[in-house]
Order: sequence, then structure tokens, then C-alpha cells
Amino acid sequence: MNAAVRAVVRKAIHEGVEIYGVKRGYAGLIEGDLIKLDRGSVSDIISRGGTFLRSARCEEFRTKEGRKQAAEQLKRKGIKGLVVIGGDGSFMGAKLLSEETEINTIGVPGTIDNDIACTDDSIGYDTAVNTIIDAIGKIRDTASSHERAFVIEAMGRKAGFLTLASGLAGGAESILVPEIKSDIDQVCRKVQEDYELGKIHSIIVVAEGVEAIGAEFKTNRGHCESNAVILGREINKRTGFETRVSILGHMQRGGSPTARDRLLASRLGAGAVDYILAGETNKMVGLIHDTVEAASIEEAIESDKSINMDIYELANILN
Ligand code: F6P
Repeated sequence: MNAAVRAVVRKAIHEGVEIYGVKRGYAGLIEGDLIKLDRGSVSDIISRGGTFLRSARCEEFRTKEGRKQAAEQLKRKGIKGLVVIGGDGSFMGAKLLSEETEINTIGVPGTIDNDIACTDDSIGYDTAVNTIIDAIGKIRDTASSHERAFVIEAMGRKAGFLTLASGLAGGAESILVPEIKSDIDQVCRKVQEDYELGKIHSIIVVAEGVEAIGAEFKTNRGHCESNAVILGREINKRTGFETRVSILGHMQRGGSPTARDRLLASRLGAGAVDYILAGETNKMVGLIHDTVEAASIEEAIESDKSINMDIYELANILN
């Protein structure tokens, strides 16, 4: 996100436009927590994860009154356009603000889940995939030294992009995503067969939101036990293979961004300024076939983006 903020700021200044940063997302917007930014304000942030402007969830912005207040804060400073970096929730706010007030809004997709339509990738996704494959590599060292199976849980409540990409790129033996009903018998069979073929370890990458795949393997959102823990126990029980579970958690959401993410964020941030200056509103900028393009925010929110089944099938062939 920092790389995107930097691009928005510097591109706007390059175009002779004054630019403010909104602290703590929509919550800061309602309170008028805005800071004037110059080129120097965004120095040395391209390599840092997160956003120096900080972020917050904001219930009040869901109300018409909250959005009216936010628009008044912007108007008071003579601000006409707002760039919103985030996912579905943030985009819904941007859409309503654009429809109900005179503020022009452009969205920039930012989520490690990569489940936003109208763009090939979202900011943060590539960095998270690289974090996960780094973790898989390190865990594999223990897995093979100790001849163990490992269940590694990646983020993604509803989307399997992170799990699929990191599972394939990390050479995992099995990949379980929320979009496809998984079969626990099949996973256990594979661990067993691989072992009989001489494989001394097994890496199973599972998305946190995988669907229930059997009586014992229930979706446990809201309970203390994750699916990965249940899966690990089942593998151990059914195959006798010593199994460990590693839940990667929020480490996937941080860290210095990859070159690919920095490029994407820079291009989309600058693109958002172009669209604002062209008088566009209620749009989201995305990267489609290496070109920055805008789609309506509504389309981005409402269209489903699903994992690439060719990649899923390829992963099954290669693992
Ligand atoms: O929506 C992105 C995401 O990273 C999901 O993959 C994950 O389930 C969730 O955020 C975690 O959110 P929180 O930090 O609010 O628990």
C-alpha cells in the first residue's frame, strides 16, 4: 500500500495537483484527519509493507450520514477526488460516496487474497505468495529431516489464490482451496502412496476457509480449532505419519513488497491519478494484460473472480 500511496502523491504533484493523505481510512476521513503531503512525505516508503497513513475499519461510513460528513471534510479543504486503496468493503464505500456526493472516487485493488475482479492481480498478493513459499521451503527442511507430514495453513477465507499459487510454486504435495470440495481420503491416500514411493515428507497447503470435506473435517470458523489442525490430526490418525501443523497467519500480510508488487502499486497509483484528473469517478483501476485499465467499481465488486482451474489441474499433475 505504501508504494501505491507514494505513486499517487508523486504523480499528483507531477501534474501540479495538491494532495492530502487521509489517516486511518474512512474513520479518519469522517473526522477530517487529513495531512498535506509533498514529495518528501513519501520518501523511503516504497520498500515498507503496510501503509504509513494507517488503516481502520469504520462502521460509521456505512451510514449515509457518515459519508455526508466525510464529503464535507473533503469539501472544506477544496478536495474533489479521492483514491481508495483496498478491497470490496472499501470499494462499496467509494461507490456510495461517489453516488451520493460530488466527490469523485477511484479505487485501487489491494488485498493479499487477490479476489478482486477486473484486475489480474491486487497489491500485496505477490508479496504474500513469496512469503508463503519461503515458509514452505523452511518447513520442508524439518519435514524431510524428521520424515513428517506438514499441514500449512495460508490465508484466504473465501479465495484460494494464495494457497494455489504458493502450493504450486512451493512444490506442495496437496493443495486444498475453498473453491473446490476437498477429499480427506484422497489427501491421506496421497501421503501414504508418496511414502511408499520413497518420499520422506509431505507438504499439504490448505486455505483457512476450505469447505468441509467429511464428517470429522468440518469448517470451524469461529471455533478455536482451525481446519488445518483437524486435517493434521486426521492425517496422523489415518496414515500413522507424524504430522505437524503450521498456521502462517498475519505474517503473510506484512514485509517488504516484492518488485512485482512495487511495480503494480506504482502503476495503479499513478493510473488512479490520471483517471481522477480526467474527471472519472466510481471506477477501479486494474492491470489487465499488462495495461492499466479502469472498470466500474460496481463491476469490480459484483463480478466473481475465481481461481484458474488450469493451474489447479497442473498443480495436481506436477505434485
Ligand atoms: O481479507 C484479507 C484477509 O487477509 C483474509 O485472507 C484473512 O482471513 C483476513 O484478511 C484476516 O483479517 P483480520 O486481520 O481482520 O483478522
